[in-house]
Formats: sequence, structure tokens, C-alpha cells
Amino acid sequence: MSIAYLNGSYVPLAEARISPLDRGFLFGDGIYEVVPYYGAKPVGFVPHMNRMIDGLAALEINCNKTVDQWRELMDELVAKNADVGENLGVYVHVSRGADTKRFHAYPENVEPTIFAFAFAIKNPEPADRTKVTQFSVSSTEDLRWKRCNIKSTALLGNVMHYQQGHAAGNNEILLYNGNGELTEGSSCNAFIVKDGVVITPIQDNQILPGITRRIIIDSLKADGSIQVEERTVTMDEVRNADEIWITSSSKEIAPVTKLDGQPVGNGEVGEVWEAAFKIYSASKFDY
Ligand code: PDD
Repeated sequence: MSIAYLNGSYVPLAEARISPLDRGFLFGDGIYEVVPYYGAKPVGFVPHMNRMIDGLAALEINCNKTVDQWRELMDELVAKNADVGENLGVYVHVSRGADTKRFHAYPENVEPTIFAFAFAIKNPEPADRTKVTQFSVSSTEDLRWKRCNIKSTALLGNVMHYQQGHAAGNNEILLYNGNGELTEGSSCNAFIVKDGVVITPIQDNQILPGITRRIIIDSLKADGSIQVEERTVTMDEVRNADEIWITSSSKEIAPVTKLDGQPVGNGEVGEVWEAAFKIYSASKFDY
């Protein structure tokens, strides 16, 4: 049975209860993270927690847990959920907490609500371009807000975009801004490959600073065999790319072979994907 953490206690997930006046419920006023654990070992634990601490500071939510305290809490949750799966995603969520009324301004003297639970995630994909799961995506203009760098629990913009891709039979949807420049996917970052060079949009307010994205860039740079660029990427470049990848903590690096019903490159998973996935997989636990 799935065990959750809620405000200091470990409880069965189905029994966890919060107030309907919780501002996470009323306003989406909170920050969340998803940390992947493979065989009880996390990937990118410190960067994930630093991103959460930055998000909490941006929202002025006073939650003073240290990275070490988070580690203890989440390792314990993983241990308590060993029967849920060998590989777990740990969802952790800090909302501003429950007020006594519904009022937009930040209340004073409210305790943040801290909630976490673990869910089974898939085994990593094989680093083999002939066997890996292929993704198909659609694309649309990014209609979310201008603070996509904050990992807020207010995800309606992402949810509506994701649903648009899902309803059309795709696994994801790529988003582009009003200038026709790629931002990211509705729940992932995006990369293209052209002539052997790996290219991804710069980290600004239009995208989430993805931890998987960061590990890919850093591990490829450390390895040195594949060139990586962070720069503006137009949708024309996306449509003419040799390869497209989407990346997140749960997907790792997923190769996209269809965009808006058209084949990406030659329609097969690319060689650069396979080489990059091997480099990423060999070093992901170092981050
Ligand atoms: N999604 N961009 C968006 C909008 C995301 O929601 C995510 C992650 C990413 C990738 O970030 P990371 O590599 O740190 O997982 C980029 C998570 C997994 C989710 O909401 O379930």
C-alpha cells in the first residue's frame, strides 16, 4: 500500500487529508518537485531540492527544511514504499498552508502544508535505438504564464496543453512562443539535433529549468564527444531537425519520431540519441 508523508506523519495515501481552505487547493499556491529514485538511489537530488528552495523563496513561503532534512524524509518515504516498486518517483509538494478565509494576499502565521508520496516509475529504457519507446508529439502556441521557471503547483496551463496533445493521440505537445520559438513541452524540456549538434532553448522565464536537461547538458559537455548549444530554437529548425528529444525526470531522454503527424528526420530514432543516452545513463547518479 502506498504510504504518504503529510505534515510530519507517514500515513496511508488514501487516508491523507488536508483542509479545503489550503491555499494549494484554492489557488494552486505552492511548489512541487518530482525526484526519480532507481533502486533507492535518487537522480539529481540536490539540484531538485535547490530548485524547490528557490521556488519557495520566489513565492515567499517559509519552509525552512534543509536539503539534508528533505533527503531524510524522502529516503524514508522510499523505504516505506518498497512494495510499490523498485523504481519510484517521489512527488513532494509544499503549499502556503490553510488560511481561515479565502483572501488573495499572502496570510501571515500560516504553517505550510508538506505532502509527499511515491509512485512506481518504469525501468530505464534500453540504450538501443532499435528498441527504445518512440514518442509522437503535436505542437501549439504556448499559452501559459510568463513565470514558467517557477515549478508551481498551479499547472492548469500545462494540463490544458497536455490534454490537447493527448486527445489528438500524441504522447506530448511541444510549445512555441509568439515569435515561433520553441519553449518546452507541457511536462518536459525539449532538444533538437541538427548535423550532430545538440541544441536546446536557453534557460529563461519561458521554461522550467529542468534537472534532466541540466544533467544532459553537463554530462555531454564533460564527455566532450557531442557538441551542445543552449540558444533560441525556431519552430522551422524543429521541423527540419534530424532528431527531437523530450526530457524529464520520469521520461529521462525520450526520442520523438513524429511531429504533427510528420516523421522527424528519417523517421527513426537517431544515432545521437543513442550516444547521448549512454553518456547520460553512465553519469546520472553523479548529479
Ligand atoms: N515535469 N518542463 C515542465 C513544464 C515540466 O513539468 C517538467 C517536469 C520538465 C522537466 O523537468 P525535470 O527534468 O526536472 O523533471 C520541464 C514533472 C516530471 C511533472 O510535472 O510530473
